[in-house]
Amino acid sequence: MVAKTFAFDDTLIVNRLGYGTMQLPGPGVWGPSQDPKNAVSVMDAVLNSDVNFIDTADAYGPLFANDYVKQALVNYQGAHKLIATKVGFTRQGPDKWTPLGNPNYLRQQVELNLFTLGLDSLDLIQLHRIDSDYPLSEQVGVLADMQREGKVKHIGLSQVSVAELEAAQKITPIASVQNRYNLIDRQDEDVLKYAEAHHMAFIPWYPLATGQLATENGPLTGIAKKHRATPAQIALAWLLHHSDVILPIPGTANLNHFFSNTAAASIELSDAEMAELTNIKTVE
Ligand SMILES: NC(=O)c1ccc[n+]([C@@H]2O[C@H](COP(=O)([O-])OP(=O)(O)OC[C@H]3O[C@@H](n4cnc5c(N)ncnc54)[C@H](OP(=O)(O)O)[C@@H]3O)[C@@H](O)[C@H]2O)c1
Repeated sequence: MVAKTFAFDDTLIVNRLGYGTMQLPGPGVWGPSQDPKNAVSVMDAVLNSDVNFIDTADAYGPLFANDYVKQALVNYQGAHKLIATKVGFTRQGPDKWTPLGNPNYLRQQVELNLFTLGLDSLDLIQLHRIDSDYPLSEQVGVLADMQREGKVKHIGLSQVSVAELEAAQKITPIASVQNRYNLIDRQDEDVLKYAEAHHMAFIPWYPLATGQLATENGPLTGIAKKHRATPAQIALAWLLHHSDVILPIPGTANLNHFFSNTAAASIELSDAEMAELTNIKTVE
């Protein structure tokens, strides 16, 4: 049986299929959305759905994605949603991302995430990238300080190796890891195994290989047809079946895509279908 939920702790239990906000800002994840009303409508739909794990970052826009989340939260009356955010990237323009691990900057950005999301504390703060110009102990250390101050509940890392996870775990408990991973890119299988062994959430970014896995007539079409599903839904269902610690966060600015992606949580793949999908050629 595929687990439907993942527990970060006794009170923070989320449905495993989440949502990522990175497609909401302008092209190149830069500037405002070309259709800000649509961006807020998508966030309204996310908040009013079964999705209760939302991944965002100060760097998306920067800050525009958080603003769309906040605008939707203002009208939201329902149950608690876990909004995971990140710090550690600076932005210079469309598609330009430069890590900065100065602990003073990371502290500022945690505060800015709180302001721009309109929250008193962050359920999960992820270090977007480790910056090799600063000691890991300072980068993870400042997040652990803010955890002790009550501003942060859990700490996660993004795009890291097993060795980096082990080093960070010596500084403070790490609750999650967010690495690039999907059906055709499984280079970080060792990190997934580590996450399984330590009950960490493994949050695969690019779960649809930026849309590649959503294309019709690709390798997922046969199984998709059998389930009257789309290839994107099968790619997400594969992730959900592959490991109980995987929390996929498909990104979309399209309402129909959002509803369709969310429905993937109810697809049951047989062992034979899982074997067939797992055998699809992956990127080395
Ligand atoms: N930690 C990191 O370094 C990192 C890096 C990248 C991303 N992320 C996180 O991971 C999340 C997911 O990554 P991502 O958004 O880049 O990639 P993705 O989820 O693999 O793919 C998103 C792309 O697929 C399209 N798409 C989504 N659903 C679709 C559907 N049902 N049918 C057809 N096309 C569909 C989207 O376009 P439409 O808008 O047109 O649907 C978009 O172009 C992000 O939102 C972000 O939260 C983290």
